[in-house]
Amino acid sequence: MLLSGKARLAGVMGWPVGHSLSPRLHGHWFERYRIDGTYVPLPVRPEDVALAFQALPRLGFLGWNVTVPHKEAAFRLVDEHDPAAARIGAVNTVLVQPDGRLLGLNTDGAGFLAHLRATAPSWTPAAGPVALLGAGGAARGIAVALLEAGVPSLRLTNRTPERAAALAEELARLGRGVELLPWAAREGAFLEGAALLVNATSLGMAGQPPLELSLTVLPRAAVVADIVYVPLETALLRAARRRGHVAVDGLGMLLHQAVPGFSHWGGVVPVVDEALRAAVLAGL
Ligand code: ATR
Repeated sequence: MLLSGKARLAGVMGWPVGHSLSPRLHGHWFERYRIDGTYVPLPVRPEDVALAFQALPRLGFLGWNVTVPHKEAAFRLVDEHDPAAARIGAVNTVLVQPDGRLLGLNTDGAGFLAHLRATAPSWTPAAGPVALLGAGGAARGIAVALLEAGVPSLRLTNRTPERAAALAEELARLGRGVELLPWAAREGAFLEGAALLVNATSLGMAGQPPLELSLTVLPRAAVVADIVYVPLETALLRAARRRGHVAVDGLGMLLHQAVPGFSHWGGVVPVVDEALRAAVLAGL
């Protein structure tokens, strides 16, 4: 669609940003809803992030997404935070308010939950303990969202135990049971009786080592989710499907986390469906 002088402007800020699927995702929605607007990659070096945060609203941008490595800097540079961003300490979506103030959101955890609920409708937070692999930024967002949703307990394990301990300490402040398990227990006590298993590490991603995890002790009714989406069908999800588990892929989280941003700069609450998945997958 050709742009007019009134085109709505948005984008994704990262360094590097060439790998980002967000321009395809938001571009699909702009076209689909025939909105006069565009969403562009914003390759911004770390030393220029503060300057970019000042400039973009003055250039007429309605908002932007923030990706690696700028999510923590974005947290410091916005004027206010939504509750999720405040809890997580990182911002992935910036909305320019009518008065020019910058509101920082973190939609990763809610995106994970929305995709989980859509793909595994029988899962409820009350179903039982969650087993979460990983202690990085992605794990933190997912853990917070699951605890807020009311899961009875969360088990954490991570290759580097100090990182898991630091995350557990942060999560304990939310007042819920967080149980730390040694990485060596990941095929045993970690999985026993769990209702949901989530891989929030980069293991299994193209170019990374595989995630080697025997699911033998995981109850058959458990849901298995992976945040990795390249490849879409990870070895973990394949093994889970073979055992009859509902498998939740990583792409849905990416699609769902984009909804609040587009609702703001597109002015339409967009749908997440097969057409969107196909448009984004074509970019992989
Ligand atoms: P993100 O923000 O995407 O979560 P991150 O902060 O780099 O990225 O976290 C990556 C996660 O994958 C971490 O939990 C990391 O474990 P460590 O804390 O021990 O580094 C995990 N991870 C990456 N490579 C791994 C490997 N080879 N074996 C086990 N865990 C790995």
